[in-house]
Amino acid sequence: MRCLVTGAAGFIGSHLVERLLADGHAVVGIDGFVDNYDRSLKESQLALYAEHPQFEFVEDFIERRDLGTLLEGVERVFHLAALPGVRSSWGDSFEDYSSHNVYATQRLLEAALGAGVARFVYASSSSVYGDAADLPMSEDARERPHSPYGVTKLAAEHLARLYHRNYGLATVSLRFFTVYGPRQRPDMAIQRFLTAARDGTPIMLFGDGEQTRDFTFVADTVESMVRAAELGQEGAVYNVGGGSTVTVNRLIEAIEEVSGCRLEVDRQVAQRGDVRDTCADTTRARADLDFAPTTQLREGLERQWQHVLARGNPIR
Ligand code: NAD
Ligand code: UGA
Repeated sequence: MRCLVTGAAGFIGSHLVERLLADGHAVVGIDGFVDNYDRSLKESQLALYAEHPQFEFVEDFIERRDLGTLLEGVERVFHLAALPGVRSSWGDSFEDYSSHNVYATQRLLEAALGAGVARFVYASSSSVYGDAADLPMSEDARERPHSPYGVTKLAAEHLARLYHRNYGLATVSLRFFTVYGPRQRPDMAIQRFLTAARDGTPIMLFGDGEQTRDFTFVADTVESMVRAAELGQEGAVYNVGGGSTVTVNRLIEAIEEVSGCRLEVDRQVAQRGDVRDTCADTTRARADLDFAPTTQLREGLERQWQHVLARGNPIR
């Protein structure tokens, strides 16, 4: 089957491309190398499969590409391209968030409709919930994003649903919860903390550290995307959590255990846009996708630690 992966040079996108190629699919990847972190990191991710005979790559922004040509023969679209940072989505950067996360999605949905794409899987986010009144977060809860980024992810999710409701495009949206693992983005907590453990530098801890996250190992996230393309109900939204909800304080302890290094903690004020807690109710994904995460936090941290030791990603 021919698949399009947007954001193919990114953290999750690069893992998905590897998986689709391993499953025997032909993959077209697009990535505009947005400047959210070092281009060399994205290039090294792309290099992992650039020579694969079933892989084609286009460097461009979705906003300006002729998408009809890009989608020729494509049956499945996996839309991961976006500006992903929560805390950096304030101020002037919102213009880029709006364009990459909302306008690009609308263009791609429109083109997917025109091209007769059979499945459109959208990488949504736990950030659509905001500070939820009830935990775990259920897909039926009211969405009240707490960051400009969350607003853009929810807007794009609504667009996906609209293209399903009005035109019958077979969209499925997956709300990922804080994804980690080898090649994690350098702005994210676990990558920063493991890199600091390796380099003997201090970490920044935002707030009191008692906020919780439902950390999800990247291979589990990829598995959910593959299953959504096969089994997801058209127009549906699914939570994809890792089942490893811990406080950031506990995460720091776990990283000290895995690395054998004590972390020096530089305490900072809580950041605007960060929610207090995330925890996914994955009942719906279990029922429809037969999805359950398989990698627990300790094992996932071990794997990311080995990767940090071997490759060493710079902090930006
Ligand atoms: P990433 O930054 O590593 O990957 C995104 C890629 O998309 C980048 O390589 C970027 O250059 C590319 N891109 C962005 N806008 C583009 C555009 N308009 N045209 C072409 N390419 C573009 O981020 P990631 O962590 O891999 O996130 C992937 C997706 O998953 C995003 O949609 C993000 O919102 C979503 N998500 C991520 C997490 C997480 O914890 N990492 C959690 C929830 C949702
Ligand atoms: C992550 C991703 O970055 C988003 O792209 C995604 O949409 C979101 O998950 C999601 O679940 O939808 P976040 O939960 O903020 O966002 O992930 P981290 O950057 O790993 O932060 C986790 C926690 O650690 C937050 O409370 C943050 O404030 C804290 N943190 C982060 C620190 O204390 N110090 C740091 O240097 C970085």
